[in-house]
Amino acid sequence: MRLAVMGMGYLGATHAACMAEFGHEVLGVEADSARLDKLRMGEVPFYEPDLTELLRKHIESGQLQVTDSYEMAAAWGDVFFIAVGTPQKRGEPGADLSYVDSVIDELVPQLRRDAVILGKSTVPVGTAQRLSERADELAKDILVEIAWNPEFLREGYAVQDTLHPDRLVLGQLSGGKAETVAREIYAPVIAEDTPFIVTDTATAELVKVSANAFLATKISFINAIAEVCTAAGADVTAVADAIGYDARIGRKFLNAGIGFGGGCLPKDIRAFMARAGELGASEALTFLREVDNVNMRRRTRMVEVARAACGGSLLGARVAILGAAFKPESDDVRDSPALNVAGQIQLQGASVTVYDPKAIPNSRTIFPTLGYADSAMTACERADVILVLTEWPEFVELDPRALGKVVSRRVVVDGRLCLDRALWQLSGWEYCC
Ligand code: UGA
Repeated sequence: MRLAVMGMGYLGATHAACMAEFGHEVLGVEADSARLDKLRMGEVPFYEPDLTELLRKHIESGQLQVTDSYEMAAAWGDVFFIAVGTPQKRGEPGADLSYVDSVIDELVPQLRRDAVILGKSTVPVGTAQRLSERADELAKDILVEIAWNPEFLREGYAVQDTLHPDRLVLGQLSGGKAETVAREIYAPVIAEDTPFIVTDTATAELVKVSANAFLATKISFINAIAEVCTAAGADVTAVADAIGYDARIGRKFLNAGIGFGGGCLPKDIRAFMARAGELGASEALTFLREVDNVNMRRRTRMVEVARAACGGSLLGARVAILGAAFKPESDDVRDSPALNVAGQIQLQGASVTVYDPKAIPNSRTIFPTLGYADSAMTACERADVILVLTEWPEFVELDPRALGKVVSRRVVVDGRLCLDRALWQLSGWEYCC
């Protein structure tokens, strides 16, 4: 099939390359000229394992093309995916839908034949219905059907998650043909017996935000338990391991630490609360405010632990921060807990040096005043304290004995509970978490 993907960011570029891998002819539409130039050369403008190979393969074969032209896109295919961002509004909890709206406003008037538009971006419940009404106004003697097909991929595993998702969800308006179209597009996934859930659009939109709200709640739950563990002298990792054996609970997403960040979970729970409020159901989601509070408190708490590790004051201390990305296998620093902590520590008078295997260029853009190093070892030279804030394998496997030779004091703060405590202590380190 001929598919157009509107927006070639983390979601769109991955989706476009994977749809080409399924054998479809794909046109990716991207407005940012720098990003477009990279994509044209088969380069991925961000770090995502396995994506460069896949994208390059299909750009080179011509199976995947990219453009900034909506006119070309409108003439291209019969199916259009919306994959643009829905960030948090500036100074407000709700989602900024301006990019999604402008896809409809720019694309639909240029369409000359019936089309199906499948939304993948995370949107507040009711958006597909609203966009559908808008498309009806803009369409010129043609039928434009809008359905929602939320995406559940994780950064760091985006290719794998798109090629082999654990479920497909499609929300369509009554009488539509989106299901038939989606079955054809995702034939290779459906052939793997992947559950394919067809609902109305509101339900599909809610599936996505509910999933992210649940994951955020699970993380904040274990972080709340971590606070009690600290007060009681208990071990939160052992608690997580033990309760995780209960299949109803499960061990995944029970890693305590400095909490969740990124371009999805934090803004999605806020947009979810805002939307529930608009619908008159705000009471139902008040618990998400606490989920957000627990999460943000982790960052403040980490700064306090670092301060205590420096003898009560960060003024003049040399602090090495290992990790800047919001999680490993990503260069994404949107709402990154690690960078947030680094910034707060610097504001308290410390000299901060950050190292991350992939996220330094993005970090420099957001926090140009922090110090940056090109290896973990260099970042830690003469440090009074080391903070491990993203659990990259490179940090988990650090040799504490070798590192101990370059620091000024052997004090490590494990912000992701990812280090082998006994090994570090045996190597003469004071271990804090
Ligand atoms: C999340 C969801 O997991 C995806 O299913 C969803 O498709 C995506 O958002 C989205 O809406 O686009 P992602 O943001 O890539 O994916 O990252 P996660 O793996 O969910 O991690 C989010 C944050 O939670 C990270 O900062 C991570 O370090 C933190 N986390 C995760 C914990 O603090 N503890 C855990 O046990 C797990």
